[in-house]
Amino acid sequence: MPKNFKAIVIDNKDEKFTREVKDLNSDHLKDGNVLVRIDFSSLNFKDALILNNGGRIVKKYPFVPGIDFSGIVEESEDEKFKKDDKVILTGFRVGEIYYGGFSQYAKVNSDFLVKLPKDLTNKKAMMMGTAGLTALLCSFAVKAKEELLMGSKVKDVLVTGATGGVGSFAVMALSKMGYDVHAVTGKKDKHDYLKKLGAKNILDRKEFMGESKLLEKGMWDCVVDNVGGEGLTKILAQTKPGGIVALPGNAGGVKIATNTMPFVIRGVKLWGIDSSGTSARRKDFVWNEVGKLIDFTMIESSIKEASLNELLSEFPKMLKGELTGRILVNPNK
Ligand SMILES: NC(=O)c1ccc[n+]([C@@H]2O[C@H](COP(=O)([O-])OP(=O)(O)OC[C@H]3O[C@@H](n4cnc5c(N)ncnc54)[C@H](OP(=O)(O)O)[C@@H]3O)[C@@H](O)[C@H]2O)c1
Repeated sequence: MPKNFKAIVIDNKDEKFTREVKDLNSDHLKDGNVLVRIDFSSLNFKDALILNNGGRIVKKYPFVPGIDFSGIVEESEDEKFKKDDKVILTGFRVGEIYYGGFSQYAKVNSDFLVKLPKDLTNKKAMMMGTAGLTALLCSFAVKAKEELLMGSKVKDVLVTGATGGVGSFAVMALSKMGYDVHAVTGKKDKHDYLKKLGAKNILDRKEFMGESKLLEKGMWDCVVDNVGGEGLTKILAQTKPGGIVALPGNAGGVKIATNTMPFVIRGVKLWGIDSSGTSARRKDFVWNEVGKLIDFTMIESSIKEASLNELLSEFPKMLKGELTGRILVNPNK
């Protein structure tokens, strides 16, 4: 390991929030038992909130954010991992309470790490990042209606926030699973992009705003809702009997107003998705399914690679809902 390495450091001294790329050394890496040389990280919604003002998530400053990374093991005190192993980290509060991935090096608990599957590269893993992993967790929640719950065949699946990181990967994975994907977006100029990813039909996000009846005509076998808030009321009322609504996000608000009818009359299931705390075993399963469900050549053009410095000017766009696709963070650029 070199004497110094680069990382984004956020600070909050005298109520003045700052973010800058700084030189750190090994004394700054106190947690964990595996030292990883980071190849790539990615920008996720939570990262954007943290880079903005700590997002009421980071409590101790100075701090290195970045909730995911892929890299190569440099030193390990756990025999499960050896030098030069390629590894992926997502969640487990790294980048929230433990120093994270917007850095050339990180030291983490070995229980948080997953080995990179043979058919992936470190770059591809972070083209997906937490958003991609979350999209696949949602897609397998949808599939659970057919398999785990022995329900009827899934046909129509609604995906909201479809042009976002989670949404784009969900559209692609669900269409690869053979479902008819109905993509909801607020971006009129991105309909072709969504069709290319596999969406069968595009809906305007405005259609889900406004008053909802207790129950509406059942339209969706399952839903992946990245937006939450007001639209979720209508979505639950429009979900068919036995349907699963996978809810990973709250880009449109944290409060929901609903009623018991979709649940007690139609048996609709609201399935919360928390990728961060999902077990390493489940994460390992999902990463190993990526090769079957994600076509990287198709998404390459929607991935923008950013250095640590460039990330500092890109992240505000995510908070304004202006980003399409993903920001791949290269700390060595
Ligand atoms: N639970 C988990 O484990 C987990 C993991 C990752 C992300 N998340 C959450 O999932 C959500 C999506 O994450 P992401 O990485 O995909 O973010 P993103 O790339 O910023 O995408 C969010 C998308 O939601 C739509 N949107 C944004 N603001 C909206 C608003 N006010 N009303 C309605 N739609 C709005 C936009 O899509 P359109 O323009 O196409 O409508 C936007 O592209 C976020 O809330 C994030 O915190 C959760």
